[in-house]
Amino acid sequence: MAPWVWLAALLCGSQAVVLPPPWADVRRNPCAAHPRGWLMLYWPADGKCYTIYKKGHPCPETQELSPGRWGGRTVAECKCPPGTAQLPHTTTCHKLFERGPCRPGEYFAPVEESFNKRGERQGMCVRPQQCADETLLYWPADGRCYYRMTQGPCYPGALLDAGEDGLANCTCSVDSPNYWAADGGCYAHYSRGPCEKGQLFLPGPKCGCETHLPQYHNGTNACYELDTIGPCPKGHLFSISEVTSQGSKAECKCKSFHARASDGACYRLYTRGPCATDEMIARGGRCTKVPCARGRLYVPERRRCYRPGTPEPCPAGEVVAFDFEARPALDGLSHNGVCACGSGACTRREVEACSSRRWTVPYGGVCHILHTQGPCPEGAWLVRDQNRAKCQCRPGTIPPDCSLKS
Ligand SMILES: *[C@@H]1O[C@H](CO)[C@@H](O)[C@H](O)[C@H]1NC(C)=O
Ligand SMILES: *[C@@H]1O[C@H](CO)[C@@H](O)[C@H](O)[C@H]1NC(C)=O
Repeated sequence: MAPWVWLAALLCGSQAVVLPPPWADVRRNPCAAHPRGWLMLYWPADGKCYTIYKKGHPCPETQELSPGRWGGRTVAECKCPPGTAQLPHTTTCHKLFERGPCRPGEYFAPVEESFNKRGERQGMCVRPQQCADETLLYWPADGRCYYRMTQGPCYPGALLDAGEDGLANCTCSVDSPNYWAADGGCYAHYSRGPCEKGQLFLPGPKCGCETHLPQYHNGTNACYELDTIGPCPKGHLFSISEVTSQGSKAECKCKSFHARASDGACYRLYTRGPCATDEMIARGGRCTKVPCARGRLYVPERRRCYRPGTPEPCPAGEVVAFDFEARPALDGLSHNGVCACGSGACTRREVEACSSRRWTVPYGGVCHILHTQGPCPEGAWLVRDQNRAKCQCRPGTIPPDCSLKS
C-alpha cells in the first residue's frame, strides 16, 4: 500500500480510502516532493516543511498543524486537536465538556462548526442544563441527566458525582462508602458491581444476598440487579411488578414490547421468534401469519401494512419507518412499522432511545432512571408500566401517600 493510502486510511478510521489526500499533490503542497513529504505541510512564514498533526512549533503549544484550504491550495493551519477547542481570538486549546477556561459552574462547549467559516474548533462557556431534580446531574457530553452515585456515563469502577467545580465528574475516592478496596473501584449499591453472579454490592460495603431484598430470587436462592435479565429466560427482565405492604419482590417479566411464546421465552412483537417462516409473534405470544406483502411494514395501531416512507398513518412531519429499537442480530427481522421524523433528528428519537435502554424511561418528555425518585413524590419511584413510566410507592412504604411503615 502506498504510504498516503495507509495514512489516509489511518486518519479516516476503517473506511477504505483510495484517493491521495490533497496535500500529497505537489501542486498543492510544495512539501509533497520531499522524502516523507506526504507527511508534511508547508509553512509559508519560514518556508519549511513540518510534520502534519504534530502539536506545538510552528503552532502554538496546544494546537496541531493541520491541512486547511486556501483558494484551491492546501495550506498549513494551526488547529485545536479533536476533543478540544479555543475561545475566539485565542490560540490555547481546552478540553471540551470540562470547566477549562470557564467560570465556576460553567463548562466549555463546542460551537457548531457551521458557524465558523475559518475551520477553527471554537468553544464557548455555557451553564449546564437544569435537570429535573437535585438527585440528577447533567452530563454535557451527551446532554443527559444521570443520577448521582450511579455509574451513569462513567466507566465501570467510577460513579457520577458533582466535582469541586460543581460539574458532573466520574470519580471514586478511597473514603467513599461505595469504595471497594479489592479492586480500587467504586460501585453503586444494589448493583452487581464487583460481586460474583447471584450477589449484589451492598452497603457496608460487602458482596451478599439477603432474602428480604426485592432483588432476591427464591428459585435460585440468589440476588440479581433489578431490570437485568437476572435468572430469567431469554427476553425477560428481572424487575419489580408489584409493591405490596409485605415488601416487594422482583420477578421475571417479559421485556416491554415482548410477548411470552409457548416455549417460555419472550420475543419482540412482530418478529419471527420461534414461529414458522411466514409468521410473527403477535400480542399474547401467538404465532400469526405476517399480514404484509414483502417490503411493507405492519403498523399495529392501524392493523395495516404500509410502505416505509409513507406519511399517511403518522403525525405531520413523520413517516413510516423501520423499528430502530429492534436489534436484528438479537431479535431477528422486525415487521413493526413506527412513525419517525421525516428528515433530521428530533426529540422523539431521544425519547425512543430513552425507552429502549433497560434502565431509563421517558416521563413527561424527559429521560429518567427507573427505580429512582425522579419526578415522583417523596416515597415513590418510577416504574415501567407497559411501555410507559409511572410513579409508584417504593418498597417499604404504604400507598396511597407512600408513608413509611412504622
Ligand atoms: C474529578 O474526579 C477525579 C477523580 O476522582 C479527581 O481527581 C478530580 O479532582 C475531580 N475533579 C473535580 C473538578 O472535582
Ligand atoms: C421458595 O423455594 C422453595 C424451594 O426452592 C419452595 O419450597 C418455597 O415454597 C418457595 N417460596 C416461595 C415464597 O415461593
